[in-house]
Amino acid sequence: MNETASNTAGTDRRTFLQWLISGLLLGAFAAAANVAVRFLMPPPKAKKATELSIPTAQIPLGSSLVVEHKGEPVIIVHSDVGFVAFSPICTHLGCLVKWVRDENILLCPCHAGKFDLTGKVIAGPPPEPLHPVKFEIQNETIVLV
Ligand code: FES
Repeated sequence: MNETASNTAGTDRRTFLQWLISGLLLGAFAAAANVAVRFLMPPPKAKKATELSIPTAQIPLGSSLVVEHKGEPVIIVHSDVGFVAFSPICTHLGCLVKWVRDENILLCPCHAGKFDLTGKVIAGPPPEPLHPVKFEIQNETIVLV
């Protein structure tokens, strides 16, 4: 092998190694950038994972439903005023209220605490209104957020 052929082979090897190192560095940079972006931006579905969807047909007019949402009970009532949702935990001593359709109230069976469908105390010992639960109605589905 003459000197020119040897130099050409050396240059080819050097060029190949430069491309290989550049590719590896670019790959490492892309991986690091990906990790940084994931760290800085929360996944878009993280908040949605806490949502609970219930078809409105599951709670016909004049009925109520108790579901668990974020580890807590929620009572959803469908009355003439539409849908309302509260924590059914009575603000007196923590018993679970039930909807009494005939009186259109939420009644605590423990000490006869009564709440209207805005959650306001209308009778009995509860010191505070029921805690409302936020929801949206989307395409005939109640979405607890
Ligand atoms: S616990 Fe509800 S009224 Fe006492």
